[in-house]
Amino acid sequence: MTISKNKDYLLSLNTKTWLNNMFKKKKRNIKTVKWQSPSNIAIVKYWGKVPVQLPMNPSVSFSLTNARTETEIQYWEKENKDTVSAEFYFEGKRKHEFEKRIIQLFTEIQPAFELFDKYHLRIDSKNTFPHSAGIASSASAMCALALCLLSIEQELEAFDEEDLKRRASALARYGSGSASRSVYGGFNLWGECMFFPDSSKEYAIPITNHIHEDFKDLQDTILIVRSEEKSVSSTAGHKLMNDHAYKVARVNQAKTNTENLINALQSGDFDTFIQISEEEAMSLHAMMMTSKPSYLLMKPESLEIIEKVKKFRNETGTPICFTLDAGPNIHLIYPKKVKEKVMKFVKSELLQHCENENYIDDHIGEGPVKI
Ligand code: DP6
Repeated sequence: MTISKNKDYLLSLNTKTWLNNMFKKKKRNIKTVKWQSPSNIAIVKYWGKVPVQLPMNPSVSFSLTNARTETEIQYWEKENKDTVSAEFYFEGKRKHEFEKRIIQLFTEIQPAFELFDKYHLRIDSKNTFPHSAGIASSASAMCALALCLLSIEQELEAFDEEDLKRRASALARYGSGSASRSVYGGFNLWGECMFFPDSSKEYAIPITNHIHEDFKDLQDTILIVRSEEKSVSSTAGHKLMNDHAYKVARVNQAKTNTENLINALQSGDFDTFIQISEEEAMSLHAMMMTSKPSYLLMKPESLEIIEKVKKFRNETGTPICFTLDAGPNIHLIYPKKVKEKVMKFVKSELLQHCENENYIDDHIGEGPVKI
């Protein structure tokens, strides 16, 4: 066979494959659903859990805007109704490890959803924030995935938007606890609090309607101290709370802080907000340092930044505070009206402690969107 004939042969093969695929697609009747979901930052921290993926204590967070995950699910009817079947791709590449994890999760929850019996799922996910930033994406990823699944389920069972969000929050929780709080924009509460009779350990509820105007444009400047993956995962950290010497005290502290934070959010009391935010961040890290085995996720640069933020606040009276997740990066929280002043301070005093002077500019957001 000559080279050109060989090329023609390959071309015709490609055409055949393409036609076959087109035919299959038609026959398969592929449907698509797509959601974008934000990450969130907790002010009162979820730390410690009990089976099945329920929090030891209530937590309060606000949803962000720029740190988002976009997830699309293509789905079509399958023949084998008994087993869950799904493929998972992240930024175009198949991720077998994560695929195994979600198939296991889907299998556990299969009895509660018709969709897993009926459809094969092809899941495509990507983040809008740089993965080099070392910012946890499990909250945005699990939330976007849960919303897609609930949208598919909504075609099979009739339920309204409110139910969709509530069920998505509960489902996201199974994937990653903090993801339950990304379902709504603004502030979210996950866990029981006496001020909200509909609050629950099973899912998060939005509490934005009860928030003072001053908290409605909060900024979150995330200072990237280290972008590498942390040495101890949050899931492992939660487990260490089971036998923690300070477990009871920590749970009580989080309950009290939840109630006081909600009061402060309602009345516009920024001083109390600052006090709770920093106490919670330090308590979270204190729990890690005093667990068995003990571990430390803050870095010397995290402490340098914390000290400078306190000094800046004391000297200038600027309403600003810090919080940390389970890692060394610092979230600076402040209202929009002081943004210019804060960014000047960040650039002249804090970026020198960040990896490659890296930071992410984010703020409170509207929550997930269906695309
Ligand atoms: C420190 O939600 O990541 O960010 O449920 O095991 O997936 P899993 O843990 P995860 O824990 C996050 C804990 C935290 C505090 C918080 O977001 O409340």
